[in-house]
This record gives sequence, C-alpha cells and structure tokens, in this order.
Amino acid sequence: SRVVKLALIPGDGIGPEVVAEAEKVLDAVTADSGVTFEKTRFSLGAARYLETGDTLSDEDLAAIAAHDAILLGAVGGVPGDPRLKDANIERGLLLKLRFALDHYVNLRPSKLYPGAPGPLAEPGEIDFVVVREGTEGPYVGNGGAIRVGTPHEVANETSVNTAYGVERVVRFAFDQAERRRKKLTLVHKTNVLVHAGGIWKRIVDEVAAEHPDVAVDYLHVDAATIFLVTNPGRFDVIVTDNLFGDILTDLAGAVTGGIGLAASGNINPDGAFPSMFEPVHGSAPDIAGQQKADPTAAILSVALLLDHLGLSDESARVTRAVEDDIAARGDSGRPTAQIGDAIVGRLQA
Ligand code: NAD
Ligand code: IPM
Ligand code: MN
Repeated sequence: SRVVKLALIPGDGIGPEVVAEAEKVLDAVTADSGVTFEKTRFSLGAARYLETGDTLSDEDLAAIAAHDAILLGAVGGVPGDPRLKDANIERGLLLKLRFALDHYVNLRPSKLYPGAPGPLAEPGEIDFVVVREGTEGPYVGNGGAIRVGTPHEVANETSVNTAYGVERVVRFAFDQAERRRKKLTLVHKTNVLVHAGGIWKRIVDEVAAEHPDVAVDYLHVDAATIFLVTNPGRFDVIVTDNLFGDILTDLAGAVTGGIGLAASGNINPDGAFPSMFEPVHGSAPDIAGQQKADPTAAILSVALLLDHLGLSDESARVTRAVEDDIAARGDSGRPTAQIGDAIVGRLQA
C-alpha cells in the first residue's frame, strides 16, 4: 500500500490546537483508504525559539524537505514580545520554508458555504481562488536601512519581480481558470508601481493570448478590495503578487465566514519539493489555549493536501463533511475539539 511521509509543524498559539483536529480528520478519512500517512512532528516556532534559540536549522530544513507533504498550524508569538525582537520567526521559519521549498504558488480558495456566518447582507455566490505568488515581491528581504533610529533614517524594502517568477505563477493561474469558470483577474497597482505592475500586466497579456477562452480583466488592488465586499461573485481566479495576495486573502476569509474557515496551500507544482498546507490565519495569541479557535481552516487545508497528493475522493469527503457541519452550525461557539469531532462524525456517517 502507498505510504505518504507527512511532516507536521503544529507551531505556536492555536496552531497545535487546530492541527490536532486536522490530524483527527486526516486519520479518519484515510483509515480504510489503503494509504498510510507516516507522520514526523517538528517542534518549531516561537515557543521552540524561546526554549533553544533555534528558528529553522539546516538539519530540520533538510529533514522536512525529505517528506512528501507538510501540514503547518501557525507560527509566531505574541506581537511585541521583547524576547522575540531579534528572532523574526515569520521570516526565519515560515518564509524560509516557502522560499527553500520553492512554493511559488500560494493557493487560497474562498468559498461561501451555505450557513457560513458571513458579514455581507446579500453576498450572492462566492467561489473564487486567489493565486498568490509565493517566492518574490516585497517578501524576498531585498532591503536595508541606514542611520537607523536617527531623523535621517532611510529604510528600503524592494519588491523583486522576475520574468521567470511571474510567468510561472501566471501560467498556473490560467490553468486554474481553464478548470474553473474561465475568468482571470490580475490585481496589482500598475498606476503607481509602474515597473512591477508593468511586468505583471505584460506577462498576463502574453499568456492570455494562449488562452483565448479565458476572460481576463484587471483591477487595481484598492478597487479590488471594494469589489471583494460589494460584488465578490465577480471573481473566479485572482492572480496577484505576494503582498497584495496576503492582504486580499484575509479580506476574502472575512467575507466568506471568517478567517477560521480559510485554508491554503503553498505549492511547488513541479513536485521538486514537498508542498505545505496551512490555514491562512496566524497563531491568534488572543484566543490561544482556550479551545476558542475554529479548526475548520486547518481541516480544509487537509482537504487541499489530500487533493494535491491525488487523493481526490478523500479530499472531497473532507470538504463535504465540513460543508455539512457548517450548514448545521448556526452561531453556536463550540470548543475547538468539538468541531473536529463533529466533522469526523460526519465523515463516518
Ligand atoms: P491572526 O490570524 O493570528 O489573528 C487575527 C484575528 O483572527 C485574531 O483576533 C484571532 O483571534 C482571530 N483568529 C485567527 N484564527 C482564528 C481561528 N482559527 N478561529 C477563530 N479566530 C481566529 O493574526 P495576527 O494576530 O496578526 O498574528 C498573530 C501571530 O501569528 C503573529 O506572530 C503573526 O506574525 C503570526 N502569523 C502567522 C501565520 C502563519 O503561521 N501562517 C499567519 C498569519 C500570522
Ligand atoms: C500568511 C501570513 C504570512 C505572510 C506571515 C506570517 C509571514 O500572514 O501566511 O498569510 O505574510 O505570508
Ligand atoms: Mn497573512
């Protein structure tokens, strides 16, 4: 039978709480599937750093890279914790993984499931996917500061956009559009960021010529935030850079029932490295340790993981169980573990 080597990084705050529920669901859905998940747990994150001073060693990175896939909860401590001032867990761990494992597609689907508690009075149908670039943009760390702390400080954070990097993610986005409703929206800020916006616009136009059946449009990122609230049904596939994609997907999560439902995959489509699945949300220190976190985003991340591994039946079963649970949920604030148990129960029903 098939063996899948899965690296687990529960992380900090609510990370371990939601990963525990995701694991329950993964175990249940694969119980009689002929696929065995061999799990390795990696203790990484702010808590580990405070204990040992390690962020992500070369040994840990190599060990993680030897797996078939990765499931991550969330990493990061309490914002402003002085003990983490020099650590930067986000850059040193999460972004290091995304960059080292060449996760150039950050796939973030948004769907409004019936019964989900969205904030919009008349949301209509919402079902789109954000294809967020994952290895470039302002995230690369191409910056620096001089005269720090003086009135003459200069601080730069340069957005890096390569033809190679933009083209490969744009091609992935068009492939998604071909398999969906054949509509692709580029989101950028070409009116101001003329160089970065220019390369994105040009490459989208070039690749669009190879996909005459895909309707392509463009929105400035500020206007995109309007439409995500006033007319989210207009979107099918959004392709955008690393930072715009980060911001848009928290908003997308909010309009489709809350950040506790938003799942993501950091994908290396070429298969050279393991892909990594994680909720869009962070470690939520404000509710950590209280069983108040919604594990649904982590559970839907398992569905994305299963789909990525070619286990589409198992993936669909998880999604259906979540959908059923959301439909029956009401506004009852159940503890984290109860939501996981209920979804496992629906899988087995
Ligand atoms: P956050 O996503 O952790 O929290 C924002 C708000 O959403 C909080 O009020 C939180 O309680 C709520 N929330 C988040 N997840 C929830 C869930 N599953 N159920 C219910 N409510 C939920 O963002 P933040 O507060 O800006 O960041 C906290 C820490 O997490 C920071 O250190 C940040 O850098 C880190 N972070 C990590 C990741 C990641 O590991 N992928 C992602 C985002 C932020
Ligand atoms: C996310 C997070 C990360 C990002 C941070 C924690 C580095 O906000 O996964 O959305 O900005 O990509
Ligand atoms: Mn984010």
